[in-house]
Amino acid sequence: SAAVITIDGPTASGKGTVAHRVAKALGWAVLDSGALYRLTALAALNQGVPAEDEAGVARVAETLDVRFDGPHVYLGGVDVGHDIRREEVGNFASRVAAFPGVRQALLERQRAFRLPPGLVADGRDMGTVVFPDASLKVFLVADVVARAERRRKQLIEKGISANLDDLLRDMRERDARDTERATAPLAPAADAHVLDSSNLTIAETVQAILNFWQQ
Ligand code: CDP
Repeated sequence: SAAVITIDGPTASGKGTVAHRVAKALGWAVLDSGALYRLTALAALNQGVPAEDEAGVARVAETLDVRFDGPHVYLGGVDVGHDIRREEVGNFASRVAAFPGVRQALLERQRAFRLPPGLVADGRDMGTVVFPDASLKVFLVADVVARAERRRKQLIEKGISANLDDLLRDMRERDARDTERATAPLAPAADAHVLDSSNLTIAETVQAILNFWQQ
């Protein structure tokens, strides 16, 4: 089947931007798996399903009516590209991503993105669970202060001011939830290249991944 490059890593490690640029350079598609967790969260919030209701949220994930179209993402025909980035949605997603039933419900949906000529898959468990046979696996890390500073810059560009200490606390909480959950905890696959981008620009990070691919 089609080639896959997986890019996993913690929150705000720059995976999204890097995955899109690598995909563009190769002429491949990209899977933003975090968006599927966020879409599940938004649909559950819309339907009044509480974050504690594992079976209920799993059912929401199974029946998710989503369509990706370039930069747009539709839930039940409504463009929710902006909505799924809300803080409340991210927090809900982070909680329900721990449920095995939710992860199972999204598994085949993620694998369906694997089409020729190739796929760059961005997430937490792309190399470990979803595409264990990927051609290249990258685990992108950056120290927590570098990530908090990047997140703050992104927010400032959107006209939102944010306190670095608050961002650091939030980031450490998310890291803990991602790495400490029992199902598909965040960790590099045994055969992943661990790439530290703390002192790399986006362009340098993209180039490092393209170099791995061409080796
Ligand atoms: O903004 P952030 O990087 O935290 O979020 P995201 O990548 O959009 O993912 C949203 C949530 O889904 C995160 O809390 C992740 O823990 C979870 N997720 C996951 O469990 N597995 C994936 N493959 C992708 C995301």
